[in-house]
Amino acid sequence: MYDEILSSIGRTPLVKLSRVFGDCDFRLFAKLEGFNPGGSIKDRAAMNIINRALEAGVIGPNTTIIESSSGNMGIGLAQVCAYHKMRFICVIDPKTTQANIQILRAYGAEIDYVSEPDPVTGEFLKARIDRVRQLIDTIPDSYCPDQYSNPDNFRAHYQTMAEITSELNGDVDFLFCATSTCGTMRGCSEYVHDRELKTNIIAVDAVGSVIFGGRSAKRLIPGHGAAVRPKLHRPDLTARCVHVTDLECVVGCRRLVREEAILAGGSSGAVLMAIEHLKSELPPGSSCVAIFPDRGERYLDTIYSDRWVAANLGQICETCAEWSSYFTPALTVEPAIAASFNLACLEHAK
Ligand SMILES: Cc1ncc(COP(=O)(O)O)c(C=O)c1O
Repeated sequence: MYDEILSSIGRTPLVKLSRVFGDCDFRLFAKLEGFNPGGSIKDRAAMNIINRALEAGVIGPNTTIIESSSGNMGIGLAQVCAYHKMRFICVIDPKTTQANIQILRAYGAEIDYVSEPDPVTGEFLKARIDRVRQLIDTIPDSYCPDQYSNPDNFRAHYQTMAEITSELNGDVDFLFCATSTCGTMRGCSEYVHDRELKTNIIAVDAVGSVIFGGRSAKRLIPGHGAAVRPKLHRPDLTARCVHVTDLECVVGCRRLVREEAILAGGSSGAVLMAIEHLKSELPPGSSCVAIFPDRGERYLDTIYSDRWVAANLGQICETCAEWSSYFTPALTVEPAIAASFNLACLEHAK
């Protein structure tokens, strides 16, 4: 029994996945962060940031919290602020899904909508950050948690790694971790480093993200990846990084639900496909943990919609014979919609 809803954040289930890589000799466990009450791993960071700031007297019950987020962090903060009865303004842009806006509103968050990108860079991220600054400057007693630079974001994940380590008695050879603010990866890897544990941290990033170098490019699956390298990033603690395409995320998600009956979000599919990339290198008998950051319900209109996939990521060609089994054949789609599809399979058009 929990005294209040925020106490139920964390201690998420660790589930053995014995089917999806059934022909491999490593053991795989998934940490299901979608079991947090706000639906994602971001509940941990949101609660830690707000509670530490309250304890330190940086904020009080009358403070207005203002953050730019189009997804899970906004929802995590909305939940924590609702519990503490604090005003929360979430700065969003046109990429925010209707479902997420409805969830934010249901928690009592105020929505501040940025409709135009920054005129110089053409990016919404810059426009949203500027809007947060403007609100902070004009609203008295206001505070921005700034998940991209706040150390209480990554410190929340000492607990995440402590839970994983304790459940497996320290026997974790590889931890696969999706990255955006790098809070999860940094918290888990500092925990491992400080205790001299044997775990190798494998970062999972999006193709088109700049966290591990390279140029920023269009990405459609939210969650992992960043257009600007986050201040929390500590590359010295990561053994390796695997980049995953949007289409691979979709395939990973669909494979997870088919093989393990786990309906997970896009970055979980990315993590699964990163393991697919490295599976031949994982030593027999090694013990691997995959962090699955959220659930699939928020992605029903995108990742789990054949129409959306075909319209946005292209048709799956015959070369992807294995992958095509995860999608409805094109001919079963209404002709009007099929006509608007990009019929090239992006995986092989490169
Ligand atoms: C679904 C999902 N996956 C992965 C991440 C990346 O986590 P982090 O910001 O801790 O790097 C996030 C962050 O918002 C997320 O929402």
